[in-house]
Amino acid sequence: MSAPWWQSAVVYQIYPRSFCDTTGNGVGDLEGIRRRLDHLVWLGVDAIWISPFFPSPMKDYGYDVANFCGVDPLFGTLADFDRLLDDAHARGLRVLIDWVPNHTSDQHPWFVDARSSRSAAHRDWYVWRDGHPDRPPNNWRAAFLDSPAWSWDEATRQWYLHLFLAEQPDLDWNNHEVVAAMHDSLRFWLDRGVDGFRMDVIHCIGKDPALDDHPDAVAKIPACALNDDPLTHSLLRDIRAVLEEYPGERAMVGEVYLLSTDAVATYYGDGDELHLAFNFPPLYAAWEAGAWREHIERTEAALGDRNAWPTWVLSNHDNPRHRTRYGSEARARAAAVLLLSLRGTPFLYAGEEFGLEDAVIPADRRLDPGGRDGCRAPIPWDAAAGHGWARAKAWLPWPPDAGQRNAAALRADEQSLLHLYRRLLAHRRTSPALQWGVIEWVEAPDDVLAFRRVFGDDRWTVLVNFAAEDREVALAGAWKRVVTSDGHGEGRAFDGVLRANQGTLLLSRGVSASRSRRA
Ligand code: NOJ
Repeated sequence: MSAPWWQSAVVYQIYPRSFCDTTGNGVGDLEGIRRRLDHLVWLGVDAIWISPFFPSPMKDYGYDVANFCGVDPLFGTLADFDRLLDDAHARGLRVLIDWVPNHTSDQHPWFVDARSSRSAAHRDWYVWRDGHPDRPPNNWRAAFLDSPAWSWDEATRQWYLHLFLAEQPDLDWNNHEVVAAMHDSLRFWLDRGVDGFRMDVIHCIGKDPALDDHPDAVAKIPACALNDDPLTHSLLRDIRAVLEEYPGERAMVGEVYLLSTDAVATYYGDGDELHLAFNFPPLYAAWEAGAWREHIERTEAALGDRNAWPTWVLSNHDNPRHRTRYGSEARARAAAVLLLSLRGTPFLYAGEEFGLEDAVIPADRRLDPGGRDGCRAPIPWDAAAGHGWARAKAWLPWPPDAGQRNAAALRADEQSLLHLYRRLLAHRRTSPALQWGVIEWVEAPDDVLAFRRVFGDDRWTVLVNFAAEDREVALAGAWKRVVTSDGHGEGRAFDGVLRANQGTLLLSRGVSASRSRRA
């Protein structure tokens, strides 16, 4: 089947500070990623997305970029990046990097110049408004600190807009010079050979210059979760044209932080905007069969109308890990079966294959203004004191049970969650139905999510029991349990019983499978 690589890929997100430190400063680095590429190949993912590693004062841990075309010395050098990229490509792994187009650091030379005077060359690269120093220009709220999305610049006596921290001023994408400079920052990395970009809060770049108040009913919600302006769509088409100047298939994966799947779907345009967009409502869904069915149906409907390809994600660097949210390893195992058998591109967050929980962060080690340190705990690679890092004390505390829950220990245990991920990824890679197949619902008890993935003769049934007790599911036809989340019954014919918290992938044994009956 000829489709772009990102539709059949499983993407693995790396938060570079937390992946692996090779220099002994307690912070992960690009060389640390390079040295662990074989883990990713063994696991069976297709692509990596690396969160920002650009020069940054790190007020938002790299999402405050002071130079879009460089590497922060904390993470290495451009030469380290090139080596990482080459080594990833040599192993057949694609590389996406994080592009942060909505804002810069306040230390970016553009903003340093912009705030130097009202007549500075870069002044109107940012969003400035007149007003009274006690009254922000509108009611927009910033993310993280529950403060206005505006800061007063006393020296030049104007307000500037920042949807995030005051140290992250918003660029003004109504300014053509900004557009051209940001396009060039894409070309800088495309020239080096990256396979595409994860685009940070991409739905925020277009803004109506009127900057009207948000309605009272939603005014407390951070403006970054509300901004949905038509200008962004034409900006995205132009950005896509930049990627299309390059040979090969370069991907645009947008973070569209709008909590409506219908709204997210619009950012695929008519097949001429984003190639993939994150869809976060399922990430926030409770671990309940009904909630998940609703999200899957809504996604299929909203994206299907546009012939757009879905994405699925359970964890990332901004939210508590799903192992922590769902409350048990048994559920995390069942969730792996679900995530890796849905129709669409799955995104894994480094460490979820180990079943990592969020770290407990003592008050004196809290760093992130957004309270997201727990899910950013360092990845333990082995049981030794430094867990494979060059220094035992990393920038954040280790996650719970790192002595047992680390790459080496889990790799040695074939029953581990790590091996479950690997088996699921291997089946997904070789199954046209799991990659491309339509999704058909199968009747099942309320606590059970049951669906088929079908492509020609390749027919799978996916069952996930959200209940803490066994459930019976009657399936027409003969089915073999190819993978089970707890290992129980794997390799045997399906006997109609799903154990508590069990997810399973069943392969049709060739008997025609008509619609199944309610158990
Ligand atoms: C979304 C990123 O995922 C998050 O980590 C960051 O703080 C904001 N965008 C601002 O760049």
